[in-house]
Amino acid sequence: MWGEEEHLTETRDLVVVANRLPVDIAVDENGRQTIRRSPGGLVSAMEPVLRGTEAAWVGWAGTPGLDLPPFTNDGVHIVPVPLSQEDVAEYYEGFSNATIWPLYHDVITPPEYHREWAEAYRRVNRRFAEAAAAHVAPGGTVWVHDYQLQLVPRLVRELRPDVRIGFFLHIPFPGLELFSQLPWRNEMLRGLLGADLVGFQRAGDASNFRRCARRLAGTHTRGLFVRVNAGTPQERDVRASAFPISLDSAAIEEVARRPEVQARARAIRHELGDPATIMYGVDRLDYTKGIRHRLKAYGELLEEGRLEVPGSILVQVASPSRGNVGAYQVLREEVETTVGRINGDYGKLGHPAIQYLHQNQPWEEMVALYLAADVMLVTALRDGMNLVAKEYVAARFDRGGVLVLSEFAGAADELKQAIIVNPHDIDGLKDAMVRAATMEQFEARRRMGALRRRVMERDVKYWALSFMRALGEAK
Ligand code: G6P
Repeated sequence: MWGEEEHLTETRDLVVVANRLPVDIAVDENGRQTIRRSPGGLVSAMEPVLRGTEAAWVGWAGTPGLDLPPFTNDGVHIVPVPLSQEDVAEYYEGFSNATIWPLYHDVITPPEYHREWAEAYRRVNRRFAEAAAAHVAPGGTVWVHDYQLQLVPRLVRELRPDVRIGFFLHIPFPGLELFSQLPWRNEMLRGLLGADLVGFQRAGDASNFRRCARRLAGTHTRGLFVRVNAGTPQERDVRASAFPISLDSAAIEEVARRPEVQARARAIRHELGDPATIMYGVDRLDYTKGIRHRLKAYGELLEEGRLEVPGSILVQVASPSRGNVGAYQVLREEVETTVGRINGDYGKLGHPAIQYLHQNQPWEEMVALYLAADVMLVTALRDGMNLVAKEYVAARFDRGGVLVLSEFAGAADELKQAIIVNPHDIDGLKDAMVRAATMEQFEARRRMGALRRRVMERDVKYWALSFMRALGEAK
């Protein structure tokens, strides 16, 4: 996997900038390095787009204090940006994940506003911008990703006015009423408006952004465009519009078709006691994902006898995430207490009501679980896209399975043949779960067929190409 170390000044036509590199690198006490794929939707989407290209990827290797020279991984030129313990606490866990993340996800958890965190965010955004500016070829393109780096477009423009700058926000952009809370709202808007193109998951996110730019940054908007520096020699139009992200759906289908993965799916069913219905949820353990609502609905269905153990089982995989952030620690306590209670009340010897795993699963196992699951539960309270929903559809080449999907996930704009739910409406969610578990095969296959047409056609290459094409036109 490891390649040559590169010469520091080598430049590339395309430089991707994201908080995380596609791989996390950890170092043990003996100095041995281990690499694993980084968590989350951003890396799942971008990694196949860049594999084998001549692009560079600027990001953090996931371990505080680790300072690595640039290297090549799966053909991508990796430029690590170091973060100290203090940067991780203030910029990553603090401003990114305890200020912006909750604010942009409808304040499900209250955001915290601390001036030292904002200062750390500025400092670290500058470091990323400098690394990008040093690695992009003359007239090249810098593509900046996500909420951790909203100041980077403007900083790159100051350092390298010759390059094209795109920004893509993987999470929702809030409405004016919520965004206005942010003490640094103007700085954030001006940071983003440093780009030539600002992309969002949903049309609603893009229109929220344009409204904020108009009302809070004093700019004019026309259609999809925001005019900055009007009446000065620096006058420019920034396009702000939706590019719903996707994944490498053909690659997922290919894994799902492998005989050993299908055999594993059958073995999973068997190991779970061959229940009539396997319900499945897989998420980063995050309060935006609606895991508590899902558990509540499932517990009530067991209590009312509408579902029974061992006839049904809920498999919930929660991958560990942001464990140093208070709200994530509280969530973990609540989820694990609830799972324990439901299992205590409704489990049978050898047949738990819920099989809960707080672990990362290998990729083939994930796909086998998709194939084994009769009902896929995506009940996010707010989610930029939710690629799990699309992964499930891409894996179901057999047109089996039913997707229950929250209207608050970006995926709901496209996956209209799913059973769409409002996860706050527990009774509605319960009805949807029962409906999914008892759906006629004919109807389930018809719906999955329609979902698959969308997901197989609009894959991640389509997404990346549409963004790059719009960026080319925007400059
Ligand atoms: C979401 C975000 C990504 C982030 C990922 C994992 O998908 O949009 O920017 O990388 O979650 O979160 P983490 O905090 O572990 O990077």
